Amino acid sequence: MDTITLHSELETFQVQLIEWYDTYQRDLPWRTLSSLYKTVVSEFMLQQTQVKTVLPYFEKWMTDYPDFSALAKASENQVLKSWEGLGYYSRARNLHKLAQSIASLETIPKDVKSWLAFPGIGPYSAAAICSISFSEREAVVDGNVVRILSRLTADREQYKSTVEAAKAYRELTQSLINRDRPGDHNQAMMELGATVCLKHNPKCLLCPVSSLCKARSLGIESELPRFQKRRSEKQIVDRAWIMGCQGILVHRIPDSANRMKGFHEIPTCQQLGIRAGRRAPVIERKRSITIYRITERFFRIEPSKIDGSKLGPDLLWVRPKDIDNLPFSGPHRKWIVELLERPE
Ligand code: ADE
Repeated sequence: MDTITLHSELETFQVQLIEWYDTYQRDLPWRTLSSLYKTVVSEFMLQQTQVKTVLPYFEKWMTDYPDFSALAKASENQVLKSWEGLGYYSRARNLHKLAQSIASLETIPKDVKSWLAFPGIGPYSAAAICSISFSEREAVVDGNVVRILSRLTADREQYKSTVEAAKAYRELTQSLINRDRPGDHNQAMMELGATVCLKHNPKCLLCPVSSLCKARSLGIESELPRFQKRRSEKQIVDRAWIMGCQGILVHRIPDSANRMKGFHEIPTCQQLGIRAGRRAPVIERKRSITIYRITERFFRIEPSKIDGSKLGPDLLWVRPKDIDNLPFSGPHRKWIVELLERPE
């Protein structure tokens, strides 16, 4: 990548970016009366999740858990319940553990290295939190930042992944940071990526640094950054919808699982040791998890087909009215509502 032009125009870049941010930044609740706690909670929620999804969760979270100590005292079940629908639940567990660590400390560390040691904090979150809350000069690099910089420098390199591209851009990103206002500079980069330098149809006419953008001068902004095509895998998952006088049969994901432990789901036929047979599914839904394109098929199974004596400790009957009190992932809760509406 050709970074020379950008370095020589460093000051223009920094000034135009920060002035644009001062004028046009969105009014977001973690920016008004900012505090370390608000910054930490927003950064956890914003990992892999868009601002518009986070907003209602953030507002409610601040009412339920107004500070680190309130969050530290809550039970894990309560915390997971509050997180329900945001997905990637390890974030909630880690945020809870982090609150407990912080609440037990006499002084809160202010440097990136110490923050990296906290649960759930990677380089991006550490840089965001320490720059915003403690004015540490540490630049954030993520997909948004890679997109902005690959366009500014007209970088045609094809990267394997965002992680690989982020590594390649680490040094340039760090060299661009505004030393007087590192937190605002980082947020300005996030803001530019989220609202102007969009993946499709970037709004170059509104961009404060378009005069420095090589991709724009070449007319190739929409083609950058370049990534190798990711392979994807198709999967079919058959699930058993079993409802009888004892309630609905659900599977509790055991503590030994990597993901979603403690959550409940509609059991798979495999977990029950049964086959769906030839009947048609009641409903069929598609979803994607990482590289997997999954077709979820739901089959109605008679409760009499289930041998109660063979049910393991993680399979339980739950009355429909109690479903709301148990943690389910967003998709499972939605499917249960749909299935309950289907006549026999
Ligand atoms: N994404 C990650 N952190 C953010 C922040 N502080 N503001 C807006 N978007 C973000």
